[in-house]
Amino acid sequence: MTPSALPLGDPAPADGLLPAQAAEGAADRNFGLYVHIPFCSVRCGYCDFNTYTATELGGGASQDAYGGTAQQEVRFAAQVLEASGLPARKMGTVFFGGGTPTLLPAEDLAGILKTAVDAWGLEPGAEVTTEANPDSVTPQSLQLLADAGFTRVSFGMQSAVPHVLAVLDRTHTPSRVPEAVKWARDAGLKVSVDLIYGTPGESLADWKVSVEEALSYEPDHISAYALIIEDGTKLAARMRRGEVPPIDDDDHADKYLMADEMMSAAGLSWYEVSNWARTLPTSAGTTWPTGAAVTGGASAPARTRTPAACAGGTPSTPPPTRSGWLPVSHRRWAVKRSTLKPGMWKTSCCAPGWPRGWNCPG
Ligand SMILES: C[S@@+](CC[C@H](N)C(=O)[O-])C[C@H]1O[C@@H](n2cnc3c(N)ncnc32)[C@H](O)[C@@H]1O
Ligand code: SF4
Repeated sequence: MTPSALPLGDPAPADGLLPAQAAEGAADRNFGLYVHIPFCSVRCGYCDFNTYTATELGGGASQDAYGGTAQQEVRFAAQVLEASGLPARKMGTVFFGGGTPTLLPAEDLAGILKTAVDAWGLEPGAEVTTEANPDSVTPQSLQLLADAGFTRVSFGMQSAVPHVLAVLDRTHTPSRVPEAVKWARDAGLKVSVDLIYGTPGESLADWKVSVEEALSYEPDHISAYALIIEDGTKLAARMRRGEVPPIDDDDHADKYLMADEMMSAAGLSWYEVSNWARTLPTSAGTTWPTGAAVTGGASAPARTRTPAACAGGTPSTPPPTRSGWLPVSHRRWAVKRSTLKPGMWKTSCCAPGWPRGWNCPG
């Protein structure tokens, strides 16, 4: 696989400090921390996140050393923010994402969180989340996380249907998800689950089963992502070879509608492209927090799952609805093929209230 080119951008300042505009208006913005834990036991065939299996990274970025490296980076980030003239602010949201953060011992995650709280402090009621694979937690590890100050866990459920999980290369069985959800609740954690729709071979009935199953756990939050076939992934290669059928936009649109209807009927409200919540999470407030990202030497996640706002736009404002158009992912709108005009997918749209880079329906 050819490594991708580095993105265009300003060169890093020679003094290592943030540019002056980073401090402008910072006192009025929420401050959040994202900690990237780039390890997975197995790389799922569809995923292009910045993540590695156990033996791929060495030195300070090895799985054993990562907790200590991330703590050093938290301290360093705090020094850089202070030296760059940013005001001292407590963290309003903390998110440990991956990879699979819970592949590290819970003690390591607790240590990173403690270092961050010592550095910046935590707003009362702040949401502290970790992502987790359902088979990467135990009742004990979840209790330890809750005792350390985590308030919420986001499980990668993806589907409740075995043949769909198999195409996605998932390592957990469907029955592991409700088990893990119960352990999380027993530990006092709020629960979110991630689902993926439009996997090759998934029928509408399969998708209904997955949404019904997810709703039966009564989670506080559900993310439902349209499967994106990422260049360079195993699934993309399988599709190219004709081993699995291609993605179908109409199928995505139907499943998006079905998910929205079922979740709305169950009391979860749509608040952002792929997300439904019982109560709006703090990470989905009217202004996205700015803040530190600790990546332990690994670069930031391969994909931004929270789209940046257009100038003048409000990210949490639902995009304007146009008849027939559905925001099936951060990158795409789906429309029934009968109304699709040539070139529509190629136009990038940035209007107030629309996340940057979305395709413009018209
Ligand atoms: C970092 S992973 C979640 C945590 C954990 N590693 C797991 O998979 O259970 C974040 C979520 O991104 C979604 N995701 C990853 N790659 C995707 C793709 N190609 N298309 C759609 N969703 C994707 C999955 O739903 C996954 O749960
Ligand atoms: S979906 Fe989750 S478990 Fe699978 S490779 Fe990506 S980050 Fe790892």
